[in-house]
Amino acid sequence: MDIPFSRWYPVIEKRRSRRHFDASHAIEPDKLSALDTMCKRFVPFPSTRLCLVTESVRDVFKGIIGSYGKIKDAPAFIAFIGNMDSASAQEEVGYAGEGVILEATALGLNTCWVAGFFKPGSVASLWIRVSIQAARLAPSAVNRQPWGFDVQDGSITVYVRTGGPEFSISKRFDCGIAMLHIEVAALNCGIRGNWQFLKAPQVARFSALA
Ligand SMILES: Cc1cc2nc3c(=O)[nH]c(=O)nc-3n(C[C@H](O)[C@H](O)[C@H](O)COP(=O)(O)O)c2cc1C
Repeated sequence: MDIPFSRWYPVIEKRRSRRHFDASHAIEPDKLSALDTMCKRFVPFPSTRLCLVTESVRDVFKGIIGSYGKIKDAPAFIAFIGNMDSASAQEEVGYAGEGVILEATALGLNTCWVAGFFKPGSVASLWIRVSIQAARLAPSAVNRQPWGFDVQDGSITVYVRTGGPEFSISKRFDCGIAMLHIEVAALNCGIRGNWQFLKAPQVARFSALA
């Protein structure tokens, strides 16, 4: 996409880092949706991904001395994901990330970059949470949502919950739909993986490639 310079230029001088947020104040859904769209559309480098996560940052960030590094009560965060095999990964993430920071500022939202002071373990498992969220949004026959998920060591196993009428449509059909949602969400977080089909009641396991 073209850089929306006339929208972003005026906010360059307005943007300031904000470290403490009002826990009782949710971000308006239309602003979140606009930010999410920008995260998906602003992909200036093929291996850089921006992933909006609307859940508490409590488990993600850690602080250092004084107020620096401490982010309190932010209602959402964006994971900026680069491919560390690329020699220019750092600058690519900086460039792409600042686009979304300026878009957030244009939407009237406050932000703070954080690099270093987050828990890599929590962020590494982010794609799993986001992927399962996406799987739960999958359509299924008579909305029976017949899937279950087991999470282990960088993998998600989809299994089928037995019992209840089949309505002559295999529940594994629905599970296949959820599988695609899992993979799409993982890819959107920069995670590639592959599927291994399994014996019933398991359906298939998605394992992230190292
Ligand atoms: C890559 C990067 C990492 C940063 N990491 C942190 C951080 O971990 N904690 C924090 O409180 N501020 C962090 N900041 C915010 C900077 O301290 C801040 O941008 C700088 O002091 C300028 O202030 P301003 O953003 O209000 O203009 C970071 C900024 C950048 C660009």
